[in-house]
Amino acid sequence: MSILNETFVLKNGIQIPKIGFGTWQVPDGEIAYQAVKEAIESGYVHIDTAYVYQNEVSVGKAIKDSKVDRSSLFITSKLPSEIKTYHETFKYFEETLKRVDLDYLDLYLIHAPWPWSAIGKDCKEGNAEAWKAIHEIYETGKIKAIGVSNFSIADLKDLYERTHIVPHVNQIPLFIGLYPKQKALIEYCESKGILVEAYSPLAIGYALTNDIIVEMANQYKKTPAQICIRYCLEKGTLPLPKTTKQARMIENASVDFKMKEADILALDQLDVDPRRF
Ligand SMILES: NC(=O)c1ccc[n+]([C@@H]2O[C@H](COP(=O)([O-])OP(=O)(O)OC[C@H]3O[C@@H](n4cnc5c(N)ncnc54)[C@H](OP(=O)(O)O)[C@@H]3O)[C@@H](O)[C@H]2O)c1
Repeated sequence: MSILNETFVLKNGIQIPKIGFGTWQVPDGEIAYQAVKEAIESGYVHIDTAYVYQNEVSVGKAIKDSKVDRSSLFITSKLPSEIKTYHETFKYFEETLKRVDLDYLDLYLIHAPWPWSAIGKDCKEGNAEAWKAIHEIYETGKIKAIGVSNFSIADLKDLYERTHIVPHVNQIPLFIGLYPKQKALIEYCESKGILVEAYSPLAIGYALTNDIIVEMANQYKKTPAQICIRYCLEKGTLPLPKTTKQARMIENASVDFKMKEADILALDQLDVDPRRF
């Protein structure tokens, strides 16, 4: 069985495929359509999009045209980070559903605890309002699992204090070099039964030319991208690599190997962070 068909099990029993196909910065239209179509042809069954990626229509069209049974696919989208009211959350969710042209989503996330235009802004009350709305939609069956993204430990604690609803997933930046900074958050999520999804697992491509990663890839007879993706899996997290090239889609999913603990520890020490997260 391909790793693309292996799953983690969320706290509510829903199975989530272990590797997701990322679609950030994949332009709507032919490029997004072709990328998602080829990803599904390559065996990906888990697709990660978002309202703000502006490609939900093409993602949905590729899903429809793939002829793969809907129940075999796992589709995630996200509430825009600016939307922090109860009523608007329903509106944006329905708009996403219309754009992807599906009856339900497998996973729906609050994209960030603050608007991207005001990182760090206190939106605690707004997050709780949006979260209650998302939970209500979840109870109707139109979403199979619910979560957050870019939430810190403090954000998660606050959300729980206000709503008593624990997310199934927290999608956070995670790649070689960023692990020490994210370790406490990952451990906190684990302790609450929240699955961590690793976004930008290739550090947006920057990790792939790092000498140590290249050398380790040679030792394992793998590519740097495969080392980066395997590293996230070794940490118990779910990587979401993005590419628009089919050969790379296949490469990124060929990660059915184990890494030695000493090598994982060595990679923990690397600093390949291209920007400050
Ligand atoms: N929740 C959030 O706030 C958030 C934020 C960022 C990302 N995400 C999610 O996570 C996904 C992945 O993160 P990301 O898009 O930031 O970056 P990423 O997956 O870390 O890296 C993507 C870059 O690596 C290149 N690449 C992919 N596979 C490769 C390979 N095998 N060899 C060489 N180059 C390769 C891609 O180029 P080509 O396309 O040209 O192959 C692209 O430039 C996103 O698409 C999105 O779904 C979520």
